[in-house]
Amino acid sequence: MPDSKSTVFETRLGFYLAAIGSAFGLGNLWRFPYVVAQNGGGAFVLLYLLLVFLIGMPFLIGELLLGKVARNSLSPALQKLSGERYQVRELRQSTVEPSWALKFCLRNIGRLSLFITLVVLAYYAVISGWVLHFFMQLVVSIFDPSRFHPDGSLRFLLENGWLQLFLTSVHLMIVAVIVGKDLEFGLEKWVGYCMPVFVILLIVLAVQSMSLQSANEALRFLFYPDFAKLNLASLGQALGHVFFTLSVGFGSMVTFGSYLREKAYLPMAGFRVSTLDSVLSLWAGAMIFPLVVYGGAEFSGPQLLFQTVPHLLKDLPGGLWFGVGFFLCLYLASLGASIGLLENIVANWREVRRVPRSRGAGLVAVGCFFLAVGPALSSSVLSNLRVGGRGLLEFLDAALINWCLPIAAFMISQVVCWMLKTELMRDEFVDPDLPGSAKLYKHWIFVLRDISGPVVVIALILQLINSI
Ligand code: PFF
Repeated sequence: MPDSKSTVFETRLGFYLAAIGSAFGLGNLWRFPYVVAQNGGGAFVLLYLLLVFLIGMPFLIGELLLGKVARNSLSPALQKLSGERYQVRELRQSTVEPSWALKFCLRNIGRLSLFITLVVLAYYAVISGWVLHFFMQLVVSIFDPSRFHPDGSLRFLLENGWLQLFLTSVHLMIVAVIVGKDLEFGLEKWVGYCMPVFVILLIVLAVQSMSLQSANEALRFLFYPDFAKLNLASLGQALGHVFFTLSVGFGSMVTFGSYLREKAYLPMAGFRVSTLDSVLSLWAGAMIFPLVVYGGAEFSGPQLLFQTVPHLLKDLPGGLWFGVGFFLCLYLASLGASIGLLENIVANWREVRRVPRSRGAGLVAVGCFFLAVGPALSSSVLSNLRVGGRGLLEFLDAALINWCLPIAAFMISQVVCWMLKTELMRDEFVDPDLPGSAKLYKHWIFVLRDISGPVVVIALILQLINSI
């Protein structure tokens, strides 16, 4: 179980690769551009960056810390805090037995996070299937360029729900096989191979895209803040996206924290993951927006990326190769993130019910497949089904990320800052060799206890007003 050798990250690099692999995914390349486009560009990007460091990073550190001190994933860690599970060392600050109501809350925080993870994995797999489709189309077109029809490819995919379902199942199968193996041979090694390739591809692609004439206009849209373009829902959307992109509120960072070695310094880990994830998002934006502006495309919803990029590849010199690199890169990102999502559910399940890893991974993947049927058919067979004016896939994404995720992330952060033993938290922050680390601890607690609550509540209220 969590303390055994095979489940502790063998190297520090292994942890970073897995955590960053899980943080960096479709959120940065598929979701970030379309949410930025819907919220008017620069001002939203600024709000997003502010929230990454003000709220997202402290929450991320809190989740890693909970996992590391409890040596468990989210649900069993919460069970330890509620006294429902045996603990090796005392984790709770208070010696008073938690009330029935508190125990009930603790149990349901874990359930909410896992529910979000499960549904997100389901529609994440659908979008990963879209990526696979374009990747394969481009590979085939390299041998026969006349077969490359960007609009036709997207239309064919959107109208063909069963193809989407097939691709979704292929993706889920790949993810289940990787997660089903032992962590050492699965997650860590796999991400270790993928990430360097991935970063190199991104650099090459961003440089190519920035050499287009449209780069200036695109960068202005992305970085010049025009606050008049924000709306009442922007704060909630920025907050939700921060949690989504940092993988906070799902419990997955608690799982990763539980695999960390005793010596790891958490604030630095949180800072590095947040910074790298943001840099990669902006990088992805700088790669995608010149392409969007170049084609004069209208900024739109979840199809933005797939509507624009393949279309524009046609006119670029070496566009097909560019496209193969781009979609390979995107697929690796979504694979890393999907591995993180499934790993999180399987780890929780294993620790609570002692289900074997491979069986757990297989069963969860099958469950996700059934959940993915609705989103996969939402642009074809179920296209008449609209919820709140949106298609099923877009509705699920908005409901989970803008509403449920901030609530789950906030509740986990409150458990950490109010219930965990102060000495345990201090030990993780205060390093006698690091001047200022004691102050850092005070700031962190202040943000968790006094700042995050009002920000989350205001964001939810503004969204509510906006939707009425
Ligand atoms: N952070 C990922 C992204 O930006 O695509 C999504 C994600 C992956 C969330 C893994 C949670 C997780 F456990």
